[in-house]
Amino acid sequence: MIRVAVVGAGYWGPNLIRNFAACPDTELVAVCDRDEDRLAKVLRPYPGVDAIDDFDRILMRADIDAVAIATPVHTHAPLGVAALEYGKHVLVEKPLAGSVAEAEQLVHAARQANRVLMVDHTFIFSGPVQKIKQVVDSGEIGDLYFIDSVRINLGMFQHDVNVVWDLAPHDLSILDYLVGRLPRSISAFGACHANEMAGIEDVAYLNLDFSDGLLASFHVNWLSPVKVRHFIIGGSEKSIVYDDLEPTERVKVYDRGITISDDVEAKRGVMVGYRTGDVWSPHIPQVEPLSKMVAHFAESIRENKQPITSGEAGLRVVRILEAAQRSIKAQGGRITIWDDHELRRAA
Ligand SMILES: NC(=O)c1ccc[n+]([C@@H]2O[C@H](COP(=O)([O-])OP(=O)(O)OC[C@H]3O[C@@H](n4cnc5c(N)ncnc54)[C@H](O)[C@@H]3O)[C@@H](O)[C@H]2O)c1
Repeated sequence: MIRVAVVGAGYWGPNLIRNFAACPDTELVAVCDRDEDRLAKVLRPYPGVDAIDDFDRILMRADIDAVAIATPVHTHAPLGVAALEYGKHVLVEKPLAGSVAEAEQLVHAARQANRVLMVDHTFIFSGPVQKIKQVVDSGEIGDLYFIDSVRINLGMFQHDVNVVWDLAPHDLSILDYLVGRLPRSISAFGACHANEMAGIEDVAYLNLDFSDGLLASFHVNWLSPVKVRHFIIGGSEKSIVYDDLEPTERVKVYDRGITISDDVEAKRGVMVGYRTGDVWSPHIPQVEPLSKMVAHFAESIRENKQPITSGEAGLRVVRILEAAQRSIKAQGGRITIWDDHELRRAA
């Protein structure tokens, strides 16, 4: 049994608490939050779990093997680094940290301590994304041409991060997982409406360019009157449409696209034909992504292996987020994320 403490019992923390308490490989021993009333309320269904209002007491406890951090983004690095230095394994909520420098500190501290550092990129553990990964890796959709993602709704306004740092980690982590290579540059636009004084963007558009013709576009928005969770992956052979709000067929694979004519005569006129084939929807098992995420954290600790959503994966996402922020400040100016030399080295 891996003995876990959850730190942060606000909006998201209780989901981690419930899943760590239910996981057969973990024992929830403590929950820490500065807000004592919040702690008492959240821990009512868990009478055997210690309520702790001071994070330093978590660090001191030898009977805590791992710490799950669900506090505001600016606290992820200081809390996570301290926990790693005290020999705890660490799970951090998305985004891994509030800057590349802080994310690097976390990754470095985990290496030094030889402990597992994992980021909760929840969607990677969801049935639809797991299924899409299988389809993409099978080669069925061919070369990737474009990715188009919309994640918009009337959002829960955050005080310390903008809509990009709040919502885009979901889509960027899916992108990182599915594509498996690094984007070269980003151009992003964002605007502040509700909280103009604080400069917190609530609408943003991100455009990423890979060096091989793949383009990826992301729209994140806290002001939309309707909720949309739509992700399209366009390939040379087939395309995938993932609608996370669809009750039954959340993933559809379309055998629909263009065919380029190699007939010389035809090329003088219309070179492109349209192919309309079958649409199929794979079966997706209904499992709560967080329960798989928590089980994967425990497995990574037990087997001393890198989690799928490792600290490095979290750092890659933070690198894109930081570049997006710089581009927004430069009103859409193109920002290099990984230069050609780094891309060649990573390939
Ligand atoms: N994976 C997901 O889908 C998902 C969804 C929502 C939020 N999140 C992430 O979860 C994290 C928390 O977000 P939230 O909306 O729950 O925030 P929140 O403000 O509702 O809760 C944060 C809690 O942390 C406590 N806290 C702050 N500093 C602390 C410290 N030093 N020691 C102990 N407790 C401390 C606060 O008292 C508060 O109760 C963020 O990183 C957010 O991005 C992830």
